[in-house]
Amino acid sequence: RIVHVNGQYLPEAEATVSIFDRGFLMADGVYEVTSVLGGKLIDFPGHAARLERSLAELDMTSPVTTDELLAIHRELVARNSITDGMVYLQITRGNPGDRDFAYPDPPVTPTIVLFTQSKPGLADNPAAKTGIKVVSIEDIRWGRRDIKTVQLLYPSIGKMMAKKAGADDAWMVEDGFVTEGTSNNAYIVKNGRIITRQLGTDILHGITRAAVLRFAAEAQMEIEERAFTIDEALAADEAFVTSASAFVMPVVQIDGAAVGDGRPGRVATRLREIYLDESR
Ligand code: PDD
Repeated sequence: RIVHVNGQYLPEAEATVSIFDRGFLMADGVYEVTSVLGGKLIDFPGHAARLERSLAELDMTSPVTTDELLAIHRELVARNSITDGMVYLQITRGNPGDRDFAYPDPPVTPTIVLFTQSKPGLADNPAAKTGIKVVSIEDIRWGRRDIKTVQLLYPSIGKMMAKKAGADDAWMVEDGFVTEGTSNNAYIVKNGRIITRQLGTDILHGITRAAVLRFAAEAQMEIEERAFTIDEALAADEAFVTSASAFVMPVVQIDGAAVGDGRPGRVATRLREIYLDESR
């Protein structure tokens, strides 16, 4: 695999970053995941815009322009012959040496790393036909979940808790209300109405979420942006999640109980089709 590190394209075994980088020592960095379908990048402008926002919130500046970023994405997709898959991008604060809680002063050029992952048939994921199972766990992440940081330990722990319980993913709950999935935004559907948590600092502003809500509105579907509980989800007609890697994925079970009739719902299935049709 050919990867990109700080302006260079290298075989993955030759790509190196400093052990002093604050991304490594302090999870001081941000990332984006952009899907590739049929060799085409999906929702790239949205991911680039959110990256800029995440960086600004952490007082960092990108070492590359958005145009350069797009060119790097395309180059990696081409060099690695990616038809379906994803491009991972990470920008960390760097660090000249010596561990310190204060940011380097003067600032150093951030470290930028990109690599591809090939996932043939990504859009035909069989899980979309059966739906996935989730368990609810407490959301104990930090308070700025709108910044897409590489601080992913708790989401990873949540994923492991789900696996241990025989499920696929976890929905996180704060003050009795669902925030989001470990790596996706969460939705329920009741009487044809799509309900998903409103944007704020407590969830990631999903790029797929924005696109799916736009397509739903264009299709005259009703949308309510508000928080919901697990009980409400269990009484809903359907549930689903969205993310750059899962697109629209039906949720058919929560904490061992069926949602609706226990099969992927009509709204989720239709939104998945619309999203894939419109984005490709
Ligand atoms: N995760 N919420 C969280 C906590 C996420 O990590 C993600 C994305 C989303 C969905 O955002 P988007 O639609 O922009 O992908 C919501 C990516 C896919 C990941 O970490 O792999």
